[in-house]
Amino acid sequence: MRPADPPSSLRAYSLRRSRRSRWVRWLLAGQLLTGPLLLPVAAQTAPQLSPAAQVRSVGDTLYPTLGQAGLDAVHYDVHLTVTQPGTRALSGDVNVTLRARRSLPLVSLDFLGPAVTVALWNGQPVPFRQDHAAGKLLILRALPAGQEARVTLRYAGVAGVLPDPVFPFTLGWQAVPDPVNVGGGANFAFSEPDGARTFLPVNDHPSDPATFTVTLTVPPGTTAVASGERVLVTDTPDTPDTPGAHTVTFDQKQPIPTYALAVHLGPLDAVDSPGVPVGAGGTLVARRDYFPPGTTDAVRAPYRRTGEILKALSDWFGPYPFATYGSAVVTARLPALETATLSTMPVTSSSERVIVHETAHQWFGNRVTLRDWSDVWLNEGFATYAELLWTEHQGQDGQVLADAWYATLQRRGTRPLTATTQGEMFDSSAYQRGALALHALRRQAGDDAFRTFLRGYAQGGAAAPSAAPERAAQVVGTDDLLDYTRRTLGEQAARVLRDWVQSSVLPPAP
Ligand code: TRP
Ligand code: ZN
Repeated sequence: MRPADPPSSLRAYSLRRSRRSRWVRWLLAGQLLTGPLLLPVAAQTAPQLSPAAQVRSVGDTLYPTLGQAGLDAVHYDVHLTVTQPGTRALSGDVNVTLRARRSLPLVSLDFLGPAVTVALWNGQPVPFRQDHAAGKLLILRALPAGQEARVTLRYAGVAGVLPDPVFPFTLGWQAVPDPVNVGGGANFAFSEPDGARTFLPVNDHPSDPATFTVTLTVPPGTTAVASGERVLVTDTPDTPDTPGAHTVTFDQKQPIPTYALAVHLGPLDAVDSPGVPVGAGGTLVARRDYFPPGTTDAVRAPYRRTGEILKALSDWFGPYPFATYGSAVVTARLPALETATLSTMPVTSSSERVIVHETAHQWFGNRVTLRDWSDVWLNEGFATYAELLWTEHQGQDGQVLADAWYATLQRRGTRPLTATTQGEMFDSSAYQRGALALHALRRQAGDDAFRTFLRGYAQGGAAAPSAAPERAAQVVGTDDLLDYTRRTLGEQAARVLRDWVQSSVLPPAP
């Protein structure tokens, strides 16, 4: 399935809004009571309101319950053990390094996973409350402004289930049972936008990207891989639970949004390709793809062009932002997903075009991340535009593709680029109108200026400075892009973009 073009059978699912029920009303009621500031009530002193009512979410326009305002999750050190791949059973041992951007009366993480049995604060037991219905894990300890804490959480059981509000699949932890003797079942993460919390306790919002160390313990014969560079392979001593298990560790050293964390385990074949000199200063980016057993050569073929795709895109976007890149092919019926350093690619999306799209998201979505989900066109428009750049790289006329996008929008209708419902996030306006907005800028500015503009944006040039300088550089919203356009391409270009962003009718074809 091309995410840009969901079969019409999927569109029927559009208006389910089951998630924002009681919790939202509760939270919004809390916000009305407390106004824009947190209550100055420490968790240890008898609070007037319930603990949850002292917590403000990030305040996302489309996902108003996600995340905690003022909480900065800096690093997740994750150990997942899966003894029966292909089932939903898993256990976790997670250390989250947290920093308070402002005084927090308690710490609230998003979590829909199994019961937490142990919670530690800098190594010492800490009271906590798990609200399964709300999907919140409350750690009942205040974190003063500017201070850091390491929270340890252990859990075992089954991963949470989160239906996508629009499409007929579930988000987050996926289980693919062994079909017929292909060598075992598989599990992987498909988390965009808010599924990471089905298997990990996280501050689940793209405005708080973090680094990850992921350690996976899996049975013999199972390959396990996650975002980042593989740092260690050891044999784990047998325990009754994990006979013959082995353990691998991956280090994702650059911050990424929680939904972009890749985790794959199953009977996968690793295929190495030569590194590609597209990193900063021309450093080699390692190349490795993963295929399930029985993957045909027709499915494998387009992945052989990944190195060339990385070169063509880095020519426009600047250095590839991570140390390694590849794809993990899955047999499940899902869209493709740009999981960091390792795109998650359904067999049915294994085309050059979708590979280009997911590769482009490594810059746009994973390196430069969203301030708010309503800005998701910043991910999808840029990734879709990469498809046109690749077409041109192949010696074809990109304008033909641009015209086709325009015709699609004329036929289907369109909307201003900022999404106003969850159902709009992955529609043709986000993808094709977003891409055409960039095409219009390019036509206005010329290729050289447009290339400089793209490279600056990919480096975080559009981001406004904020309280967490090291990661602020990568979080952007539509307004930031408009300001950046005015600064780099001038007033006239900014007007063109504003029209594409805001107009209720389709601006003239670029
Ligand atoms: N970001 C994905 C892509 O365009 C698509 C995607 C992720 C998606 N999650 C989704 C589409 C949920 C529909 C519903 O590459
Ligand atoms: Zn996309």
